[in-house]
Amino acid sequence: GAPVRADVSKLEPGQQMIVEWRGRPVWIVRRTDEAMGRLASLNDRLADPESNRSEQPDYIPKTPERALRPEYSVLIGICTHLGCSPTYRPDVAPADLGENWLGGYFCPCHGSRFDLSGRVFRSQPAPTNLVIPPHAYLDDNTLIIG
Ligand code: FES
Repeated sequence: GAPVRADVSKLEPGQQMIVEWRGRPVWIVRRTDEAMGRLASLNDRLADPESNRSEQPDYIPKTPERALRPEYSVLIGICTHLGCSPTYRPDVAPADLGENWLGGYFCPCHGSRFDLSGRVFRSQPAPTNLVIPPHAYLDDNTLIIG
């Protein structure tokens, strides 16, 4: 499949956009400073905080941010358990996700929870973090996936 371009210049902090690449949804989220600041504090609650056994390109840092440009997360929007579509839940603590929820992605099929870097929490059905697709920035506004 051909690479896909996305104009990220219209994304407001906290917003998600979705583009399709090779028949799969790719989520692009512009994360808020507050959300970024919470990521490192989650490490000891995660199954693979440095993505050592999760799929991502070699050039993506193994930091809590997991991103070329930390404000933008770029993830394949498919649960690594059985392929359902997790939902974007950026709010700190929606009542149905519990008071320890700090925002991320929730898979409705079997309840897997991921943080805003797509990192899976411990003891979830999903074995690995959400996949980061190959991507690069052509300029400040243009992301290319593939
Ligand atoms: Fe997502 Fe099972 S498919 S938790």
